[in-house]
Amino acid sequence: MSTVEAPAKARAKIKERTLRRDNWRVYPITTLVVFTAWVVYATIRAFWGAAFFVPEYHYLTPFYSPCLNEICNNVTQNGHTADAAEFGTFLPAVTRGWIPFAAVSLPFLLLFRLTCYYYRKAYYRSYWASPPACAVAEPHTRYTGERRFPLIGQNLHRYFWMAAVVISLINTYDAIRAFQGSDGGFGVGLGSLILLVNVILLWGYTLSCHSCRHIVGGRLKNFSKHPVRYWMWQQVSKLNQRHGQYALITLGSLVVADFYVMLVASGTISDLRFIN
Ligand code: FES
Repeated sequence: MSTVEAPAKARAKIKERTLRRDNWRVYPITTLVVFTAWVVYATIRAFWGAAFFVPEYHYLTPFYSPCLNEICNNVTQNGHTADAAEFGTFLPAVTRGWIPFAAVSLPFLLLFRLTCYYYRKAYYRSYWASPPACAVAEPHTRYTGERRFPLIGQNLHRYFWMAAVVISLINTYDAIRAFQGSDGGFGVGLGSLILLVNVILLWGYTLSCHSCRHIVGGRLKNFSKHPVRYWMWQQVSKLNQRHGQYALITLGSLVVADFYVMLVASGTISDLRFIN
């Protein structure tokens, strides 16, 4: 008869900080550099207050969606004028640079990513070295886990997921609106395709979320009586295997989408048109 040993109460007494021989520092350092660069870029763009919308083709950068400032209305560029605010203008038209035009959605998106299981692993390792990598002892003397303030707030992730679903629906609407030609009818440009790919990847990230997996398939005694939820849980579980990849790819796709809209909206380049 096999016996089950109780888990060790303390770390094994090994003098070395780690027995790993690979270059384990690459992951936390790369993560730190990429995340910091992304946050700097996103902050600058969110507060910039310009080059966010192309009225001719109705391209709206995801960093400004939904655009809720009065300045989002009557945007003019190249002789074309249109409204980027399609869900009302709740925010006062304060001077650019004070409040992001998407001030309602950005905090939720930030908190959604900040509390994401994948990002937690990534920034605990790279910013806090807690631990720096698998099988590498952490420099901290105490480990308090996520059961106390402030980290207990990570449990709110499921609610931020719900907000993210609503914002993804708005991004989907933006991507559909981006299939507009210069005469106001149907049209396809490189910007339409970039915004479309970005929103598909955002759905990949949102639906592959661990909380989503629990929401669709959790709290059931058995799956046999819930075939639809079982099927949904299976699909989300498949996506979930690539959740970390979606988390990283969408950081890139958001920057590409925003940067392209910025270049066209500022008149730096013209949109590459395929239809109309
Ligand atoms: S676990 Fe990453 S978004 Fe939910």
